[in-house]
Amino acid sequence: MRTVCLSLLLVTACWALPFRQSGFLDFMMEDEEGSGVPEGPKCPFRCQCHLRVIQCSDLGLKTVPADIPDDTTLLDLQNNKITEIKENDFKNLKGLHALILVNNKITVIHAKALTPLTKLQRLYLSKNMLKEMPANMPKSLQELRIHENEITKIKKASFQGMAHVIVMELGSNPFKSAGIEAGAFADLKRVSYIRIADTNITEIPKGLPSSLSELHLDANKITKVTADSLKGLKNLAKLGLSYNEIGSVENGTLSNVPHLRELHLDNNALTSVPPGLPDHKYIQVVYLHANKIAAVGTEDFCPPGFNTKKAMYSGISLFSNPVPYWEVQPVTFRCVFDRSAIQLGNYRKK
Ligand SMILES: *[C@@H]1O[C@H](CO)[C@@H](O)[C@H](O)[C@H]1NC(C)=O
Ligand SMILES: *[C@@H]1O[C@H](CO)[C@@H](O)[C@H](O)[C@H]1NC(C)=O
Repeated sequence: MRTVCLSLLLVTACWALPFRQSGFLDFMMEDEEGSGVPEGPKCPFRCQCHLRVIQCSDLGLKTVPADIPDDTTLLDLQNNKITEIKENDFKNLKGLHALILVNNKITVIHAKALTPLTKLQRLYLSKNMLKEMPANMPKSLQELRIHENEITKIKKASFQGMAHVIVMELGSNPFKSAGIEAGAFADLKRVSYIRIADTNITEIPKGLPSSLSELHLDANKITKVTADSLKGLKNLAKLGLSYNEIGSVENGTLSNVPHLRELHLDNNALTSVPPGLPDHKYIQVVYLHANKIAAVGTEDFCPPGFNTKKAMYSGISLFSNPVPYWEVQPVTFRCVFDRSAIQLGNYRKK
């Protein structure tokens, strides 16, 4: 359809101005700025603008366009080649709610660049080359996605005063362990979801907020779970610790997270079932496959006795452990009513 219109235009243009060889483009340009047509809202060159949403993705841009309308609410600049965010790049965008800068080549964000964005709720910076957390992120922020960068540190000041954050995705950054300062997350009073996977941290970050309901720390180098590290997380429902190097879960850990429903500890170095499962009221899923568990006791999952009410388990995995499945006594799972919830066998998968 577009081609047809364009050809038609060409024909008309060439016909109207038969002797101007390079006339076509000039004609278009003149018309853009033409005096006869009433001026619509501005849209940066090659971007698409609809209502207050500005789409400038996949354009090979090396800088943020200069002429973004002041009333923009969503600015999409993903999949470009932007290398730097300068002080005045977002100067007048006081109504901006969402800023998408995923998959660029950003190494630096000027310390004052984000200050004007007092209404910003979503900031997506994943897949860039940032070496530091952006400074002065808006306090209005609800969602920060900054995975796959080169950030080595989260300082106590990094998230200062960001009391509205609900979701934080920080994975695939080379934090190592000392990289996360104690209490770095303390100001996130409403945070519900934090993911710090693939970062090589060696311990669970200290001082996580009590609002947290999901904590994903998979594929790191955490060596143990201490009771203290989860203290006060009374809303925690999901804890992901798969693919770490965890050798032990301290007694008292599970009683610090009374509302936990899912515990993923598969692909670690555990030698026994974590303590505290029989007393836990809500736990449903316990992944323990691919560890070094050599023995499973009859009191490891269920409370003593047979008249127990506990029947919450919906998934227990123990395969790929040294314990032979025929040595695990059936009575071990006396409080699990749905037998299909238990994956015991060392059957080979792939
Ligand atoms: C984590 O460590 C491994 C080497 O043990 C390395 O290959 C990987 O790049 C590191 N990951 C990060 C995000 O630093
Ligand atoms: C774990 O703690 C409970 C009470 O908090 C105690 O009864 C139990 O003996 C402890 N178990 C081990 C293995 O230390």
